[in-house]
Order: sequence, then structure tokens, then C-alpha cells
Amino acid sequence: MSPRRVRAEADAVGRQEGPLRIIVDGEPVDGIAGQTIAGVLLAADRLSWRRQRSGAPRGVFCGIGVCFDCLVTVGEDRDVRSCRRRARDGDVVTTQTRQAEPGQGREAQALRTREPETGP
Ligand code: FES
Repeated sequence: MSPRRVRAEADAVGRQEGPLRIIVDGEPVDGIAGQTIAGVLLAADRLSWRRQRSGAPRGVFCGIGVCFDCLVTVGEDRDVRSCRRRARDGDVVTTQTRQAEPGQGREAQALRTREPETGP
């Protein structure tokens, strides 16, 4: 998936551009009708919009709905693959993360499940 967009007047199939605007984490992002949410984000120079547990940035990886790297929340729907969902004017998109919160890592979990130590 390319972050570049062919201008409508240069498009060989003569497409018409219908503008749309989505809200991403409270910020308006403009796109054109027919783009996926991932396409709108890429065209707006956003290459990543999610963090995995390790903190590594994620955005589009496969671009065809196979890898789940591009997940976002659209309205009330969590875990929407943004490379598969066409953007609709007015969509409210919230980015997601799997990055561990402080106290949620494996070490913290191990500490919580450890048996309390007893006295001598
Ligand atoms: S980029 Fe792989 S599912 Fe969307």
C-alpha cells in the first residue's frame, strides 16, 4: 500500500474525488471517498498508529487484512483492521495499543501470583 495518492486529474480511469474527514484521536484527518482508514492515515503521513507490547510501532504490514497490525477502534468497534475498512465521512477512530501498562508486565504478574512469604 502506497502512502502516495494519484491526483484525480492525473488518474487514467477518470475518477472523481469525494472529500471526507475522519477524526483520529481527536484530530481531523482528510481523505477521499473510497480510501480505507489505513489509506487515509498513510496519505496523511502517519506510518504507525499502534504499539505492540514491546513498544514497537505498528501500522500497515500486510495491507490485506491478514496480520492484524493495523488495528484501530472505529466508533464503538474495537479491533477493526484499518486496511480493510473503508473510511466514512465522520468516522471517529481511536488508536489502540498493546503496550504494557506499568505493573502489567510478566514480572509484575509473577509477583502478584507468588505465595506470600511466611515468617521463620
Ligand atoms: S495491515 Fe495486516 S491486517 Fe491490516
